[in-house]
Parts: sequence; structure tokens; C-alpha cells
Amino acid sequence: MQSVKPYINDNKNRFITELIELLKIPSISADSAYKTDVLTTADMIKTSLEKAGCDHVEICETEGYPIVYGEKMIDKNLPTVLVYGHYDVQPPDPLNLWNSPPFEPVIQNTDLHPEGAIFARGACDDKGQMYMHVKALEYMTSQNELPCNVKFMIEGEEEVGSVNLSKFVKANREKLANDVILISDTGMIAKDVPSITTGLRGLSYVEVEVTGPNRDLHSGLYGGAVANPINVLAKMIASLHDDNNHITIPGFYDKVEELSAEERAEMAKAPFSLEDYKKALDIDAVYGEKGYSTNERNSIRPTLDVNGIWGGYTGEGAKTVIASKAYAKISMRLVPHQDWHEITALFKSHFENIAPAGVKVKVTPHHGGQGYVTPINHVGYKAASKAYEQTFGKVPIPQRSGGSIPIVSLFEQELNSKTILMGFGLDSDAIHSPNEHFGIWNYLKGIETIPWFYKYFTEMNA
Ligand code: BES
Ligand code: MN
Ligand code: MN
Repeated sequence: MQSVKPYINDNKNRFITELIELLKIPSISADSAYKTDVLTTADMIKTSLEKAGCDHVEICETEGYPIVYGEKMIDKNLPTVLVYGHYDVQPPDPLNLWNSPPFEPVIQNTDLHPEGAIFARGACDDKGQMYMHVKALEYMTSQNELPCNVKFMIEGEEEVGSVNLSKFVKANREKLANDVILISDTGMIAKDVPSITTGLRGLSYVEVEVTGPNRDLHSGLYGGAVANPINVLAKMIASLHDDNNHITIPGFYDKVEELSAEERAEMAKAPFSLEDYKKALDIDAVYGEKGYSTNERNSIRPTLDVNGIWGGYTGEGAKTVIASKAYAKISMRLVPHQDWHEITALFKSHFENIAPAGVKVKVTPHHGGQGYVTPINHVGYKAASKAYEQTFGKVPIPQRSGGSIPIVSLFEQELNSKTILMGFGLDSDAIHSPNEHFGIWNYLKGIETIPWFYKYFTEMNA
């Protein structure tokens, strides 16, 4: 295969404008007010797959948002790559923290992206990274460089837990049969430090409700005499970590995979500057579980975080009140061997146990998923590694990520295949945050690297 660069140079303006068109549609899966936009986005993906050379593309309806499925099968004796991505995005709020509107994409230069970055919700997670695969397919089909079969499965509910995709996968094992799954929905260490994600954390997400008195009360007349649900909730949440920032739920760590000293030493070789990390976040110290480095805390260790907490009066000025109810949303990131159903059950019984007399506690589980690991001796990992070496001029570093893509472990279970996570985003791209962006360099580098994965994967499977 010749260099992909000339094709990219000739077409890069179009690649950028096409992505910008996609980013203009607010495909927010969590908010039903955007239903039409989510559906429009699915149609746009369908058209783009047809144009990029798929022989067959269909919109597969589900009880929720549709899955766009496309394929180009050239020879059943050749390997098949299944590409997964998602066209839905996170809600953009808080809107006032965006420098430009989230669905009016603009290109701006940053320190890390002197070639420009596209600012918009979904630019990196995952429209930009998903679209790299569509454009890589366009390159391969138009230049007669597609060496194997390819299937695309792009869903619209990743950001809300992929419930309908799970059902779809279980019901369509034959259709989705493949030799390897390829996903770009993670990041890499730095533009000059290519890395391949070899692990994702699992997730258990719960909501808790603490109820005190049957109605809101005057905080002077009743304060001090009844349990205040907000005070109690704050105390209960604080007790979930001890002074070493270990999680106190009994049994929580029982199945946690302990890495060997060798593996931890290997991990510690990845370039990382604590000073830069603190500077980028404007914090004077990092914080976390005793005995572990920052990179370990956010990848190989399980965590528990409050994602939202509310109750009582939060409007302008002061209102003297003891609320009847207080709430919090809590996520636990899990590591290999921790089972999310088991952890959810442990959390529920512990949280109910620690509730003091005078309040009632309700724990409602939301979604969750298992963690995932790709072994670096897998042929897909080796093919990806060679592809990065080809386009970055460096052997990529394997890196466990702290994020979750719960459907990946289900793919392994149902389709019996491993997933290769070729992410091209940077941690500083602000996914799920205001001012999300994706570097144009990263976007084009992804389009350049992906075809080499197909080539090497096909050769290595011969
Ligand atoms: N693409 C992210 C996950 C991710 C990002 C993994 C960066 C590794 C590096 C995905 O869209 C996501 O946001 N996942 C959610 C879980 C999901 C069930 C809502 C997450 O990790 O919070
Ligand atoms: Mn994503
Ligand atoms: Mn996401």
C-alpha cells in the first residue's frame, strides 16, 4: 500500500467540512427533546457509509435510537473487521462555560493543536473519531486498497448505556460475526507519544435518595430536632472513603486484580508530568488512594465518585428550610474481575446499613458494565502497533484507560472477539465538558493510520 497522505492532502478540506456538518446536529441521546436530531444524525451516517463504499447499509430500528449497520464484503475467505462507534453525544451543559455554541462548530488553534482543532460537542467523543473510520473506508474503496471485509455498527445510545445495542448484538450474532472489533473512542498519551488503549474500566452507576420528615420544614422550628436528609446524605457519602481514600464498602476490593510489581514498573515508564497535570487543571495537589500513582489511580484502581448532589433550596438568596429529601448520583469505576452487578448489590446493602435512624434510604441502580482488557499478544494489537509505527514512526505504548465502554465486554461475551481500541483523542480534548474539541492533526492522523491496520491485520491473518 502506498502512503495515504496524498489522498488526505487532496481531500482534507472536504473531510473537515463533512465532519462539521455532522457536528451541527445536536444528537443528545439523554434528552428526548432532541429525538428528531438524533434520528437525522443516524440518516446522515447511513448516507456517509453508502458514499464511502459500503455495499449494503441499513437503519436497524430498536426500542430506542436506531443502529446504523453497513458492510462491504469482498471475499468470505478474508478476515472481517467490525467497526463500532457512536453518533450520540453528551448534553452540552453548562452552556455558559462554552466559548462558542456547542453545535456551531468552529476551528481554533490551541497550544496543543497549533494546526487547529474543531470545537463542538461530539468533536472527539465520538463523531470525529467515528468519522475517521468512514473516511478511511472511503480511501480504501476508492483507491482499491480494501484488503478484507468490513462491517460498521454505529449506535445512538452509547452515552446512555447501550441497552438496546446489547439486545441487538445478542439477536444478531451471525450478522455481526467478525475476526476483530475496531473502535476509536478513547485517547492517546500525546501527539508524539502514540499509545493503544488495552483496558477499560467497568462501571456501576446508582442514584440514592434519603428521606427525612414527610415535608419540608422551617429550619428554625425543627432544625436540630429531626434528621436533616442533606446533612445525613453528606455524612453517609463522606464515610464511603477512609483517611487513606480507600473505599469502605465491605467486600468492594475482594476481586480487584492486583498488578505485579513488574507490570506497575512497566506502566510507570509511560511519560507523565505531575507538574503539567496539576497546571492543566489548576490544582495545587493531586488527591487519591494512598499507595498508588496518579496514572494508577485513574486506570487500574477502582473508584467511587459523586456525580451530582441536590436537595433543598438552591435558588437565589436564602430560604430557611430543612428539605424532606436529598439525592445523589454516584458512579463506581471498576477494574478487571469486579462484577458490576455484585458491586451494585454491595453498595446497596452497605448504603442501607449505614443510614441512621430517622431517615429512609432508597438506592436505584442505573446502568453499568464490566471492565475489559486486550492482551498485547493478540494479532489485532500487533497489527495496530505496526500501523502506528508506520504513521507515527514510533512503537505505540499500551495504556489502560480509566473510562468505560461497557458494550466492549459484551462484544467479547456474545461475539467471541477481542476489541482493538485505537483512540486518537487527547485527555485535554475536554470530552463531556464545555469546549470539547478534536485536533485536526489527530483527525487526519487517524484517517491515515486506520488503513494500515486493515493491511497488517489481513496479512497477519493470512
Ligand atoms: N468514549 C467514552 C469512553 C472513554 C473516553 C474511554 C476516553 C476511554 C477514554 C464513552 O463515550 C463514555 O463516555 N463512556 C461513559 C460510560 C457510558 C456508559 C455513559 C463513561 O466512561 O463515563
Ligand atoms: Mn464515546
Ligand atoms: Mn462519552
